[in-house]
Amino acid sequence: MRTQVAIVGAGPAGLVLARMLELQGIDSVVLESRSREYVEKRTRAGILEQPTVDVVHELGIGDRLAAEGMAHDGFHLRFDRTTHRFDFHSLVGGHATVYPQQKLVADLIAARVSSGLPILFGAFVKGIDTATGRVTYERDGHVHELDADIVAGCDGFHGVARTAIPTALRRDRSRSYPFSWLGILANSTPVSDEGMYCAHENGLSVHSMRGPAVTRQYLQVPEGTDLADWPDDRIWDELAVRSESHDGAPLDRGEIVDRSLAPLRSFVSETMSHERLFLLGDAAHIVPPTGAKGLNLAVSDAAVLSHALGRWFATGARDALDAYAATCLPRIWAAQLFSWTLTTTLHRMSDDPLDARLRFARLRRWVESEAERTALGEVYLGLPFPSRW
Ligand code: FAD
Ligand code: DHB
Repeated sequence: MRTQVAIVGAGPAGLVLARMLELQGIDSVVLESRSREYVEKRTRAGILEQPTVDVVHELGIGDRLAAEGMAHDGFHLRFDRTTHRFDFHSLVGGHATVYPQQKLVADLIAARVSSGLPILFGAFVKGIDTATGRVTYERDGHVHELDADIVAGCDGFHGVARTAIPTALRRDRSRSYPFSWLGILANSTPVSDEGMYCAHENGLSVHSMRGPAVTRQYLQVPEGTDLADWPDDRIWDELAVRSESHDGAPLDRGEIVDRSLAPLRSFVSETMSHERLFLLGDAAHIVPPTGAKGLNLAVSDAAVLSHALGRWFATGARDALDAYAATCLPRIWAAQLFSWTLTTTLHRMSDDPLDARLRFARLRRWVESEAERTALGEVYLGLPFPSRW
């Protein structure tokens, strides 16, 4: 089989890129190791920046997002039992939209299938020849080859694409944090009208939502935590303790329908391309989830590569393709800085009282200073994409 662009992975990065290429008349084949049902059910991100929402509409797949997405002006921040509202919309314009990642993924898959374009589920990519563009994958117990002009590695942090770049050429920057997020999805009423971060001496809690009767909430837990040690009552008790306040409604409890643990890591593979291979999204970088940037970065990478490929296939000019990493990296690092700042301010970082004083000094500055909130809001609601798709 031969195509112009082989896309490895049907997460947000791969599917958005596939749609952008389709609308430019560029052929692609999407290879995804999991089943369609699995990727359409995987509970993950939920907060879309304004530029991401704009792109979803430009791609002609925004009807369900427009009907079901919840536009928020900002978020609430709670510490010392007091709630503060950060209205970023009034400071910088635009919105953050709550729309589950798996719905966006399902909308993109539905569009691809209805266009009759190739997307192969259960296709596990085993090798990428970066010089020739040959992708080797296994499906139904057989080994297949796909030859492409370009390979887009959109296979997430644990995928194979990044490992196809020789180690000697890779420039990776990485930090792990000594805690994880325990995330739940529950049938309960959101505690506030917009998402809320609580900085408590026991650690962070996040209170987000997926609808008027469905909540998505997170607890900072030590790395190495076993979910078996967290029965429902313990989760609800800890969420209640960390979000206790003198000015808000008490937390509603309900049935927990999904739970997971996610480690926190800052990671950038600054070598985002090699020969015919280009890395996008989590394959190239991971942010800690605080601030909800991951999915949005995947979409902005796709916009940059789509634009560069459009130019290369149409004119043969390689300049935008050669500048792919240089174009993406400033926005990636801005999001890294934002996620790191929120992470180190909102989590209990250590037992050192100096750390705690510095964190709470920063929280107070955010509350007192409109300039500080404006700077936060610019990144939270979404810096402009580096290029149009
Ligand atoms: P992925 O979504 O990981 O997709 C990669 C795809 O490649 C997968 O479908 C995988 O099955 C497939 N694959 C892997 N290996 C192979 C292979 N060898 N062959 C073929 N296919 C392969 N981000 C936000 O923006 N907002 C949020 O609110 C937010 N909250 C989050 C909360 C949690 C708890 C977590 C864990 C993440 C959160 N994120 C958030 C991050 C976000 O989910 C990711 O950044 C996003 O999924 C990245 O998309 P991607 O397409 O790059 O990678
Ligand atoms: C959500 C995820 C995040 O990473 C975050 O910082 C806030 C909310 C969410 O899943 O709704």
